[in-house]
Amino acid sequence: MIPVWLDVDPGHDDATAIMLALHSPNIRLLGVSSVHGNTSVDDTTRNAARCLHAFGAPPHIRVHRGAAKPLLRPVRHDPEIHGEDGLGGVEGLAYAESPEVQAYLARDEDGNPVPALDGMVDAIKNTWRKGDGQKVTVISSGPMTNIAMFVSQYPDLLVAVEQFVFMGGGVGLGNRSAVAEFNILCDPEATQIVLDAPVKTVMIPINVTHKAIATRYQHARLRSSSFQTPDNITTFCSDDAPLPIPSNNVRHTLSTIVSFFADTYKSTFGFHDGPPLHDPLTIAYVSAPELFKCTRYRVDVELQGAHTTGETVVDLWNYRSCDDTWGSMGKNCLVAEGLDVDAFWDLFMLAVEKCDGA
Ligand code: BDR
Ligand code: CA
Repeated sequence: MIPVWLDVDPGHDDATAIMLALHSPNIRLLGVSSVHGNTSVDDTTRNAARCLHAFGAPPHIRVHRGAAKPLLRPVRHDPEIHGEDGLGGVEGLAYAESPEVQAYLARDEDGNPVPALDGMVDAIKNTWRKGDGQKVTVISSGPMTNIAMFVSQYPDLLVAVEQFVFMGGGVGLGNRSAVAEFNILCDPEATQIVLDAPVKTVMIPINVTHKAIATRYQHARLRSSSFQTPDNITTFCSDDAPLPIPSNNVRHTLSTIVSFFADTYKSTFGFHDGPPLHDPLTIAYVSAPELFKCTRYRVDVELQGAHTTGETVVDLWNYRSCDDTWGSMGKNCLVAEGLDVDAFWDLFMLAVEKCDGA
C-alpha cells in the first residue's frame, strides 16, 4: 500500500480526486490538507470534509486547514469555473455544519483545529518511524503553498518523502492566461520552491489532463453500474438520449459534479465533449504510473514575465545542460506527456463501484 498525503482545494475535480484516493486499492490515504485556490480556504476545508463524508472515508482520515493565501501574491479564486463556494451545483453532500461532516475536521485534544503543516509533518514522521523508513507520497491538486511551506520549514523531513506529485502547469499551454495554468498562477513562488526541493517531483500538466474528458459516455457509466456493457454504449453516444438515472446517492453526487463542470467548461473554454477531470490524474499516476508516458525535464516557473507569469517553463531540449539530480540544479521534474485514457476511466469507474458499496 502506498501511503499518501493529499493537499486539495475542492473544487469539482478535487472532489473526484478525493473519491479516487479513498477507493484505489493500492493507496493508503493518511490525511488531507486544504488550501486556498478554487475558493477560500474556509470553503475548501469544509468542502474536503463534506467529500470525505460523502465518499465513505474511514473516521481517522481528517482534513487539516492550510494556507489562506499564496506566499507573496494576492489571493485569487475561480468562481467562474467552480461556483462561489467551490462546489457550485453539487447535490447530495451533507451540510458543513452537520456533526457527521464536522467529525472529519482535524482537532487537537482541546478541540482546536490542527493546521495543515502539523498534520502533514505528523503523518510523514509516523509513517517513517512505524514503517521502518517507509516514505510518503505527497499529492497536490491546488496551489502549492502548503507544500512549499513544508519544504522550507522541514528540510530534514524531505528524506521521508517519496515524491511530490502535482496537477498543474502546461507545456506551452495555459488556462488562466495564454501560458499559465490556474494552480501555478495562484502561487508561482510556491511551485518553484517545490521544484527546487531535492525530491522526485512529478507534474501532470493540462496538456495531459485535457485528454481525460468526462464524455457523455463516461458520464453515463458513472451514473449507473448497469450501463457498462458495450450494447448500451451506443445508446448514450447520442446527445438526445437521456442519461441513466443515478443508481444511488454517490453516483448522483458525482454526476452533479460532472454536469456543473461540463457547463462551466463549455461556457468558459468551449469544451463541447465534456469537461477534463484534471485532479484525479494525480491519484491515477500514483496508483498506476504505467498508464502515463513521462519524460524528465528541467522545469522552472516564470515569476516576473510581462505576459507569462506563472508559466511552467519546460526545457524540452535541455538547453541548460542539467544533470539527473532532483532539485535546484538538475532535471527536476518528471513531466506526464501521454495517458492511456481508457485505462484511466476504467480505474476511475472501479473506484466509483467500490465507493458505491462503501
Ligand atoms: C486546476 O485548477 C482548478 O480549476 C482545478 O481544480 C484544477 O486543479 C486546473 O487548471
Ligand atoms: Ca484543484
